[in-house]
Parts: sequence; C-alpha cells; structure tokens
Amino acid sequence: MKLTISVIKADIGSVGGHTKPSARMMAAVEGEVAKAIDNGLLIDGFVRHTGDDIAIIMTHTRGEGSSEVHQFAWKTFLAATAVAKTSGLYGAGQDLLVDAPSGNVRGAGPAVAELSFDHSLAGARPAESFMVFAADKCGPGAYNLPLYLAFADPMYCAGLMLPPMIKGFRFHIIDMDNTAGDSVIELDAPADGYHIAALLRDNERFGIDRIVSKTYGEVAVAVSAQRLHSIAGKYTGKDDPVAVVRNQGIFAAPEEIISPFAKAHFVGGDARGSHVMPLMPVPLNTPVTGMYCLPIVSCVGFSIDRDGKFSESYTDFFDNLAWDEVRQRAQRKAIEMRSQGWSGAAMLPYSELEYGGFRDTVSGLLKRFRLREEPKPQAAE
Ligand code: 13P
Ligand code: 13P
Ligand code: MG
Ligand code: MG
Ligand code: MG
Ligand code: MG
Repeated sequence: MKLTISVIKADIGSVGGHTKPSARMMAAVEGEVAKAIDNGLLIDGFVRHTGDDIAIIMTHTRGEGSSEVHQFAWKTFLAATAVAKTSGLYGAGQDLLVDAPSGNVRGAGPAVAELSFDHSLAGARPAESFMVFAADKCGPGAYNLPLYLAFADPMYCAGLMLPPMIKGFRFHIIDMDNTAGDSVIELDAPADGYHIAALLRDNERFGIDRIVSKTYGEVAVAVSAQRLHSIAGKYTGKDDPVAVVRNQGIFAAPEEIISPFAKAHFVGGDARGSHVMPLMPVPLNTPVTGMYCLPIVSCVGFSIDRDGKFSESYTDFFDNLAWDEVRQRAQRKAIEMRSQGWSGAAMLPYSELEYGGFRDTVSGLLKRFRLREEPKPQAAE
C-alpha cells in the first residue's frame, strides 16, 4: 500500500503564558484523533506537545496534502482552541492564521511535514521505522545543520560509507522568502555539498524541504519549512518546525540522526522570537519554563506494522541520561549568550526583527534623526 506519514502541528493556546497546552486541550485532540481512527480516516495517530505546540502524527492512505486529513487537523485544532478560550489560556488559536483554509492547511499557519512510500515491508525496507522532531521557540531552519550532518557528513553518519548510502542523498531546499509559492532547488550530496552548505547556513531564509535517497529514490526526510511572517505579514509567534525522518537500513541509524543535536547549536528564536540561543533537546511533552525561553526540540520514534499502525510503544529519544549533559551545556551556552543582553550577535538582525514590534520602536526613532550641520570653513586671513 502507498502509506503517508503526516505530521501537522499548531500552537493554539497555553497555560500560564507560552509554556504548554492544557490537559483538557490535549484530551480534546486525542479524542478527535481516536474518532478519526475509528471512522477510517486515519490508520493511526499519536498526539504529543513540545512546549506550547501540539503535534498530531498520523498514518493514512490518502496521500500528501489530502484535504480530508488537513481539514481534520484544522477542525481538531479549532476544537482545542475553543477549549483554550473557555479556560482563558494565552494565545488561543495563535497559529490558525486564516479564517477557513479550503483543503490543504499548508500556508494557513500550522506546520506540516509529510512523506509517502510504498509500504510493503519488502525489498529495500523490510521494516519501517521513523522519527518525528518537533521544535518550539525557534526559527524554520533549526534542522538545517543537524540534518545536513546526518545525511551528508560521514563524520556524523558513518553509514554514508556503506553501499546503500554511498551514492548520497538529494537535498530539496526551499527559499522561504519567496512568497509567490514553493521555490525549490535540488542539490546532491556529496557532489554539491558546498553549495548545499552555502544555502543552509542561512537558517532564516533557506530550509531543507526534503531529502531523498540517490540509490533508491525513497524519501528519507520531510520538513515543514515555512515562515509564519510570510503568511501573516507580521510577527505571530515563532515558526517551530517539525520533521519526519525515516531511519535504519538504507537510511541513517537513529544515533547518526540525533548525534548532531549534541551540539546544542545556536538558532534564531527564544523570547519574543528575537534572540540567538542554543537548541536544547528535551523529552516529549516538556513545557517551556527555565530562565530564558530556550528553543527546544523533542524526538519520538515508532515502527510501523504491515497494516500501517504504529508500534504499541514509542521511543522518546531525548529522554536519556546522555542528553542531560547536552542540556547542561545548552544552558551554559545560553547564559553566556544572554550575558550580552541585546547587543549584536545575541539578537537576530533587524531584517528578522522587522516583523515584530521592534520595527515600530526603531522606525519611530528613525524619524527623529537629523543631518548634523557641518561647521562652515573659516575664511583665510
Ligand atoms: P544491534 O546489535 O542492537 O542490532 O545494533 C547494531 C547496530 O548496527 C547499531 O547501529
Ligand atoms: P511561540 O511561537 O511558541 O508562541 O513562541 C514565540 C515567542 O515569541 C516566545 O517569546
Ligand atoms: Mg506560543
Ligand atoms: Mg510555540
Ligand atoms: Mg510558534
Ligand atoms: Mg538490533
């Protein structure tokens, strides 16, 4: 069967400020997902939150961009928004940026990552397993560096030297500043590795959209690479991307995919979406508390049975003692960066901040600048 994994995620309200959704919101989403499995819309579904974002992870046979699946997610987020409003929660419905999207919700606010494959549990994929990353308080290119290292650098993924992966992967990279539509370039690693790096270094403009095996043509990775401010025209919270990554066999192993996250690399995000702060790997359902509002990322793994259902257990990849050291280091990096407050590299450049209230503050001041009058040269005696 042609199986699709869809991850659709939205920030639709949170408790005590932008920390986490309420238990009643989570229950509302879980209830809707259970009904959608019962009535046959979905084969399976799993709900989790990362900070104040709720992600629905689904399997089905309706293909990518299915209006039924997308409309289901939208209506489910509306139902949870109603719960958030009743409880007076912060930011109720924040990521639902249009009134009623017709069909596909891409471009309407929620983050969407989807990929499809022939699910026969034969040939190149005798077993199917995948991971889902979900980040909160961070910009859209947060996965650029870790996914590049996992799928293009044998220093992180020794598996790239093995016959199934040695021809490398094709990176589909999207220009997120182009609001005319999805503007994508396809570049091959390792051949075009430096060109790929030249684009991916700019986390705010270019993002990985998908990664495909050169040998098998199978899609390994799908990422939600979209700018919320390109949709809303103003700051409406951070982009908080999600990613689906198939693993093992012809793809990287889990540790080859998650080890780059040990860097706790600096990304755009954090408080008011305006800082440059380290990305901290956290367990599922972690609220954003702590002293800053650190960008966080979670990672869950599943296997899929022959009917397209998730394994009865899941793996919470960052819920492990090994990641405590990374979390401590991320915190130390954060303290160092924040010790310089608003100065220079600690905050995002004006081009990013212009979508928020910082523009109004600065443009008010710009009107008050005056050219200083040059002193007249003294006439020679
Ligand atoms: P196992 O022996 O647990 O299967 O692990 C082998 C392996 O190759 C890890 O990448
Ligand atoms: P959210 O995108 O989670 O709402 O966070 C954005 C923000 O501005 C935090 O200060
Ligand atoms: Mg929020
Ligand atoms: Mg959020
Ligand atoms: Mg957000
Ligand atoms: Mg094993």
